[in-house]
Amino acid sequence: MAKFERHVFVCTNFREPGSARPSCTTDGKGELHGALKDAAKAAGLVPRVRINKSGCLEQCEHGPTVVVYPEAVWYGGVKVEDVPEIVSEHLIGGRPVERLIIADDCLNAAVCPHRPALVTRG
Ligand code: FES
Ligand SMILES: [Zn+2]
Repeated sequence: MAKFERHVFVCTNFREPGSARPSCTTDGKGELHGALKDAAKAAGLVPRVRINKSGCLEQCEHGPTVVVYPEAVWYGGVKVEDVPEIVSEHLIGGRPVERLIIADDCLNAAVCPHRPALVTRG
């Protein structure tokens, strides 16, 4: 089988309401993952592109989080409505969707405007 050209990881982590950190889904369901998978398949990208569910990707405060490899483009605040643009622009056109990219100052930062300093990890 040919190598995958891209892997797309979609965080489907769920935390109970009131948890110390937010989570990328409110119910643990993979609606965004399913939408991306369906759109990639409809666009004829499967099996060259693999859409995977993922556990927490450590960008919780910027979620829902999606990361595309090998480019390592990190998307935040992704909604189902953004799926067609991600597929057509990025996965087909090779042009990452700039408006959804998590800012460099935020990605993996211990503290950022969205991630307070004294968050309890969990
Ligand atoms: S819960 Fe999705 S990145 Fe942490
Ligand atoms: Zn931030």
